[in-house]
Amino acid sequence: MRKDIILVTGALGQIGSVLVQALRAAHGASQVIATDLRATDSALDGPFEQLDILDAQRLHDLVKKYHVTQIYHLAAILSAAGEGKPRRTWQVNMDGLFNSLEVAREAQIDKIFFPSSIAVFSHLTPSRQTPQYTVLHPTTVYGISKAAGEDWIQYYHQRYGMDIRSLRYPGIISHQSDPGGGTTDYAVDIFHYAVRDINYKCFLKADTALPMLYMPDAIRATLQLMEAPTEQIRVRTSYNLHGMTFTPAEIYAEIKRHFPNFRIDYQPDFRQDIAETWPASIDDSYARRDWNWSPAYNLESMTQDMIINLKKKYLTLSES
Ligand code: NAD
Ligand code: SER
Repeated sequence: MRKDIILVTGALGQIGSVLVQALRAAHGASQVIATDLRATDSALDGPFEQLDILDAQRLHDLVKKYHVTQIYHLAAILSAAGEGKPRRTWQVNMDGLFNSLEVAREAQIDKIFFPSSIAVFSHLTPSRQTPQYTVLHPTTVYGISKAAGEDWIQYYHQRYGMDIRSLRYPGIISHQSDPGGGTTDYAVDIFHYAVRDINYKCFLKADTALPMLYMPDAIRATLQLMEAPTEQIRVRTSYNLHGMTFTPAEIYAEIKRHFPNFRIDYQPDFRQDIAETWPASIDDSYARRDWNWSPAYNLESMTQDMIINLKKKYLTLSES
């Protein structure tokens, strides 16, 4: 069996920066090639290459140069940022995926990971315990690109026998990295304000329930999915995935238990309209059945861990 050499696109983003560390811990630092449109001057513990995912030739060259066997294609423009530049978002999200699929096909890559999102759902989808197979009809350009991407990866699997795996991530909450322009970003931002003793202006209404997942669970789900035996992967579009559900009022109440003087004020903007088309909770029973998925964090334990880690982070920053 050949040794895995993994190329990650969009590796400097909220998920990529944490996923690359986890992959390097599992496979060895030199086995994981981090790439991103942006350059980085931060000290990386392994190879980094600048890559615009729209540059198929460069992706092809990097795959050849490093003898890549797996691609984690994370590069994308997210829901809120995407609404400001629909054509660019379509181009990056769709052509970027096609470039990854075509280069992978040509190079006979063993496995590909493509993250989808709760953004594939809409106001026509059942909002509670959203089923694996249901009405989609997304309303953002980001959601449309992810829904189309899900069908395309299934097509490449059926037509060319390629092993492409996917998760519909809910909103991801992390202390290690900042979110990159999504509708669920408030659930990370709120902690940064609370820990610094600054009042928070929330861009969603108090009662907007959304599905969320803590970063350690998101990373574990990704690695578990990618390591599962092929015959266990029975969803070839994208697996529903769930961690916890809360509203801005509920996460505020949980944070207030740690910071009794913390204040929030609600000033909904265009992201409210997006959030209202997304489900409140997700039925992830296919993921549980096929590769034993189970989240470890709930609202209480996630909040506690976020606060501990962000306090440390800001203390270190203030000392440096
Ligand atoms: P992010 O916005 O934080 O990071 C995306 C990265 O892609 C950035 O570092 C950006 O520089 C890079 N990028 C943008 N255009 C590029 C291009 N043309 N070529 C190469 N790189 C480019 O996003 P994230 O939160 O880390 O999300 C990673 C993936 O997971 C995305 O596909 C996203 O749709 C999906 N996802 C994320 C969430 C979440 O809550 N974070 C939820 C659902 C799905
Ligand atoms: N967290 C992401 C967003 O809000 C969901 O894909 O765009």
